[in-house]
Amino acid sequence: SMNIKKITTGSRNLDELLGGGIETKTITELFGEFGSGKTQICHQLSVNVQLPEDKGGLEGKAVYIDTEGTFRWERIEQMARGVGLDPDEVMKNIYWIRAINSHHQIAIVDKLFTMVKNDNIKLVVVDSVTSHFRAEFPGRENLAMRQQLLNRHLHQLMRLADIFNVAVVITNQVMARPDVFYGDPTQAVGGHVLGHAPGVRVYLKKSRGNKRIARVVDAPHLPEGETVFAITEWGIRD
Ligand code: GTP
Ligand code: MG
Repeated sequence: SMNIKKITTGSRNLDELLGGGIETKTITELFGEFGSGKTQICHQLSVNVQLPEDKGGLEGKAVYIDTEGTFRWERIEQMARGVGLDPDEVMKNIYWIRAINSHHQIAIVDKLFTMVKNDNIKLVVVDSVTSHFRAEFPGRENLAMRQQLLNRHLHQLMRLADIFNVAVVITNQVMARPDVFYGDPTQAVGGHVLGHAPGVRVYLKKSRGNKRIARVVDAPHLPEGETVFAITEWGIRD
């Protein structure tokens, strides 16, 4: 569609892999093992969405739904300095919301329809989208219920992205299983949650030191392949 816009990740490599950056009107799922960089990318996008359009932003605000308590204002300050924005201004333009359980998480997203309508919000992050659901509905015996609730939640997020032209970024921790991954990425333990729903799935993997590998999975409109980015003192870079 004509008014789809993109937010830079801070890494040219990663932007290129994504066809220019993280898209509005779309859910982007970042999935990968612990420490693979999901939360760091979410922090960086919450800063970068505030950049002017010629610098890869949307001059908009961010909502950060934090389910694991891993959001850090200090990291936002560092990243703001890293892109030359005033940290105090940047922090004012991020609405941090701690979701205490899956019910709360769902209720927050329902409330966002009014909030986004009346404010210049251009990014909604849910980090992580799955942790409460996994904790509250554990094991195979609860899988059907968990999936049903998650699917409804994802559907709400998709509507939000579509109606208000915002980017929605969700994270999902999976166990690393390179053996299976290279054969069929969706078979990584836990798998990605978007299934065949519309959206972009990005698999993240640890590499040497601060390097990370990203691969877009199951996206017919994007080129195959993977790329490398880094998590630096100033944020996400090549
Ligand atoms: P889980 O939530 O546990 O599944 O992991 P994640 O994928 O969200 O990983 P996260 O984005 O938290 O990445 C953690 C890694 O980012 C750390 O191991 C560090 O390498 C790096 N990192 C986090 N904070 C900083 C920081 O302030 N400075 C630098 N240079 N690197 C950082
Ligand atoms: Mg995280």
